[in-house]
Amino acid sequence: MKLIKLNAIDSTNDFIKKIKSLVDDKLFFVFTYNQTKGRGQMNKVWESQPNKNICFSICYKPIKSNPKQMSFKLNMLISLILLDFFKELKIPDIKIKWPNDILSAEKKISGILIESSIKSNNINDYIIGIGLNINQESFNGIINANSVKNILGINYDLNLLSNRLFKLFSNLDRKIEQLSIKYLKKKYLENLYGLDSLLKFSNYNGKFKAKIIEVISENKIKLLVDNKELIFDSDDLKLHI
Ligand code: BTN
Repeated sequence: MKLIKLNAIDSTNDFIKKIKSLVDDKLFFVFTYNQTKGRGQMNKVWESQPNKNICFSICYKPIKSNPKQMSFKLNMLISLILLDFFKELKIPDIKIKWPNDILSAEKKISGILIESSIKSNNINDYIIGIGLNINQESFNGIINANSVKNILGINYDLNLLSNRLFKLFSNLDRKIEQLSIKYLKKKYLENLYGLDSLLKFSNYNGKFKAKIIEVISENKIKLLVDNKELIFDSDDLKLHI
């Protein structure tokens, strides 16, 4: 069993949490087009109109526990695979918004939520949840969201697109072992939104402008703020578009 398709579910990430101990596969997928209680980053809700979009989660149980910088590699690789998916659809001006949103022309078309579970100080498994806005046309006043349909003017077959996603992600385990941090970082930076521009951020201290210098890990970024190089944590930093 590698792929589970559900007619409806509260959250594909939460479903995997419940069943993962019963599944032997090191890599398996859960897809739905009707997610009723989706979760986003920073405890936000991920809303998705029924049967308009693709919501799916990947459960990945690394064979070697805690290989070097696995979480960082996984973070970058997931965004890069999604980028390829959208590029194949000919979506224009696609960028990764740090840490891991996918934008087209500065509007979000996909979000990623990576959760890991730890056992005796090692990463036991990752649950990688991905929401893609495909045929949804309105976003309840969220101005920075968009969908494939709004961009290309075509209603897409969700089954066809899920099959493609499944294919693109099906060798994730092999890719993560083969691709180096150096290679992934180069590709990630090439596709990063706002590199070399002055961007608007906010943290617990308020709003400020800064340039991205380097992405350091899955949750740390180095910024140039008022000519000072400072490291920030993704838990306390928001990049505003
Ligand atoms: C974000 O941008 O805030 C992340 C959104 C992640 C949404 C996906 S949809 C599939 C999976 N199940 C969830 O409950 N959340 C993720």
